Amino acid sequence: MYNLKIIAATTRPGRKSPEVAAWILEIAEKHGGFEVELLDLAAINLPMMDEPEHPRMQRYTQEHTKAWSRTINDADAFIIVTAEYNHGYPAPLKNALDYLYNEWTYKPVAFVSYGGVAAGTRAVQQLKPVVAAQKMVPVVESVNVPFFTKYITEDDRFVGDEGLEKSAHGMLAELAKWAEALKPMRNK
Ligand SMILES: Cc1cc2nc3c(=O)[nH]c(=O)nc-3n(C[C@H](O)[C@H](O)[C@H](O)COP(=O)(O)O)c2cc1C
Repeated sequence: MYNLKIIAATTRPGRKSPEVAAWILEIAEKHGGFEVELLDLAAINLPMMDEPEHPRMQRYTQEHTKAWSRTINDADAFIIVTAEYNHGYPAPLKNALDYLYNEWTYKPVAFVSYGGVAAGTRAVQQLKPVVAAQKMVPVVESVNVPFFTKYITEDDRFVGDEGLEKSAHGMLAELAKWAEALKPMRNK
């Protein structure tokens, strides 16, 4: 079993990332290869980066950084659930990524994005070089949801259709492969 952390990347009141994350979380639990946990960046509530040293040094001065470090250290793989804000990815996500370094390295990351016509894909494309700089491996297979509001029910749940579920299964299969392939590197 690999420890999979699903990161809900938006933090504004009324945001939809927790709903989309709940959908992929349920599918990931059914996969059977992962022990899954949701990380909601609004609840984690990191302030704007306030550490004096480069995170590679791991000389953290703040309790919130130490807690975030422990959380990310535990993971074998990630799914980032993100919206697209002005054709990029949301600022709280960059902040959360920048807080740490070693804790992210040699771990695979897959993306579930949502938006209008572009389905959040521009956010994902911007994220790839950033996570690569942290030595994460971005998984090619992803779930990209166009015009995502049509999948939100009256009681505010996200319910993906068959096509999205198929994409999710393909993405999780790849994520599991990479989690296994990278494990020896993480043990060094
Ligand atoms: C600041 C901001 C910028 C946005 N920019 C885009 C965009 O570039 N592309 C897009 O498809 N949707 C954009 N939207 C609409 C979002 O897809 C929609 O509001 C979505 O619910 C945002 O995710 P969230 O609810 O998790 O915050 C934007 C929304 C906000 C609040």
